[in-house]
Amino acid sequence: MHDAMSSSLTQTDEERRILPRHVAFIMDGNGRWAQQRGLPRIAGHRAGVESLRKTIGHALKLKLEYLTLFSFSSENWSRPASEVDAIMGLLRRFVRSDLAELNAKNVRIKIIGSRDNLPADILNYLIEAENTTEANTGMTLIVAFNYGARDEICRATQTIAHKVANGELSPDEIDEALLGSELDTAGLPDPDLLIRTSGESRLSNFLLWQSAYTEFVFLDVFWPDFAEGDFDQALEHFAKRDRRYGNVCSTQSVV
Ligand code: IPE
Ligand code: IPE
Ligand code: MG
Repeated sequence: MHDAMSSSLTQTDEERRILPRHVAFIMDGNGRWAQQRGLPRIAGHRAGVESLRKTIGHALKLKLEYLTLFSFSSENWSRPASEVDAIMGLLRRFVRSDLAELNAKNVRIKIIGSRDNLPADILNYLIEAENTTEANTGMTLIVAFNYGARDEICRATQTIAHKVANGELSPDEIDEALLGSELDTAGLPDPDLLIRTSGESRLSNFLLWQSAYTEFVFLDVFWPDFAEGDFDQALEHFAKRDRRYGNVCSTQSVV
């Protein structure tokens, strides 16, 4: 299946039926990977960046249209300052070392998450990544940074409430499409497949609204060990799922 999939995934209409358009990742398990080896947690995050590069490369090879990566949650600020500083350092280094190559590969970068109270230079790196790649037409790489789904929904709700208060909008006009259009992910399709590594089976405040009909795959591998074969295995699981969206099974007769 691995070879067959990677050689045939050219996103024709036929293949799109089994290959997701949009895959989202909760890249988890860096700390435990390091702990297993008697290394400091930051060594796990460093190894995690390598895994991230390989995953982006594989997604490009598969011609996925959208790849979302949960890189730092709004709750992760509660970690020890030394770990937070080290993660920020890795982000700075990643933009400096990889942005040009991603741009050359026609990748369009989009950042989701709150931009409030971010260190000024980090905010500039995020803006630079988006601005440099905004005209690109290849894969869209969505990086969730300082992201929490409840925070995102609250911010969207505030924007809508202001519009109602200003008389720009009537409460009756608030529907799913309108709320979706005020989220950070406005204009992006919902993830078809969400993969979480590290053996945890929870969303941890990731894409709560957008994952209403997403297929979940939870893998028992720490993020730094996540390899192309694991990615392909998750895609195989996805290909076998029957997405019903509340309807009946497509192959079952009703009467
Ligand atoms: C994910 O790995 C990376 C971030 C949250 C930034 P963790 O750091 O959560 O690793 P574990 O879950 O503690 O092993
Ligand atoms: C989710 O992982 C955030 C990222 C992967 C960036 P966490 O490690 O923060 O989630 P919990 O604490 O296990 O729920
Ligand atoms: Mg974790």
